[in-house]
Amino acid sequence: MRQPPARSADKPSGRRRRPPLWIPVLITVVLLPIAAVRLMSGQGGADGQNAANGPTARSSPSLTRMVDETPAPSASTTTATATADADALPTCSVDDDVTPDRDADDWPRTLVDTDLRLPAGYAPPDLVPVTQAGFDESNLMVRRLVVDDLAEMRDAAEDADDPIGVIAAYRSFAQQRQLFRERVRQFGLAKAYAHVAAAGHSEHQLGTTIDFAPPDADDVDESFGDTATGRWLAENAYRFGFVQSYPKAKSNVTCYAYEPWHFRYVGRERAGRVRASGLTLREFLWREAHSG
Ligand code: DAL
Ligand code: ZN
Repeated sequence: MRQPPARSADKPSGRRRRPPLWIPVLITVVLLPIAAVRLMSGQGGADGQNAANGPTARSSPSLTRMVDETPAPSASTTTATATADADALPTCSVDDDVTPDRDADDWPRTLVDTDLRLPAGYAPPDLVPVTQAGFDESNLMVRRLVVDDLAEMRDAAEDADDPIGVIAAYRSFAQQRQLFRERVRQFGLAKAYAHVAAAGHSEHQLGTTIDFAPPDADDVDESFGDTATGRWLAENAYRFGFVQSYPKAKSNVTCYAYEPWHFRYVGRERAGRVRASGLTLREFLWREAHSG
């Protein structure tokens, strides 16, 4: 896989702001012990795979530029609190529970977030290169079941004069672990958690999730959402079965910063229902799993 380009924007800016008091408390009491266990033991629910031996994971696009701008998931960025309602959407806590719907056939409803994760050994059985949908990147893979709608969306975007490219797709558990560790080293734990999923916690491991960009782009940032192509995707992707997992100003319920490039395929009918609901995908899937 391609490495992210070396660029000055890959580093956090030199600005210094005094962090709110809860940040060091959160990091010391909650995040550091969890991360220390994951990083040192190779867990994240690890199965002993060595990320250093795996292929290089491509960057999650916006982290390189926007990591300074968004708070990490924490008590202050969550909505549902630990109330008596057991079915309420959980807070964006950092934990490591294995998600209940984790068979390959569960792909439209599998929920992963900062708590719930896929098993380390979860790998889609039918990965194919995105070239089958008309893109150039033979090294980027998706599940076969995504290809037909992806190809139609690609053609439709081109017809609308807003052509799209693909800069990331399937990432294995080991690749995600490598990426997460890299970002922790670069930016620190709290900022990494706001932008990159820990190993097992990424929708990219499902093989149904794609990071889009303008054709031939190496990277995108949040400004992609304000471009014609970003707007076209936000408005039209659902017609082809794709949902934007991390929309703007929803990090309190999605658990991650705004990612206008990150879309997960859930099928056309389901994507239409997600859009009609007005809910984020995490809210929709949680509600679906917990409604009688
Ligand atoms: N950037 C998203 C959260 C991921 O790493 O899957
Ligand atoms: Zn992504």
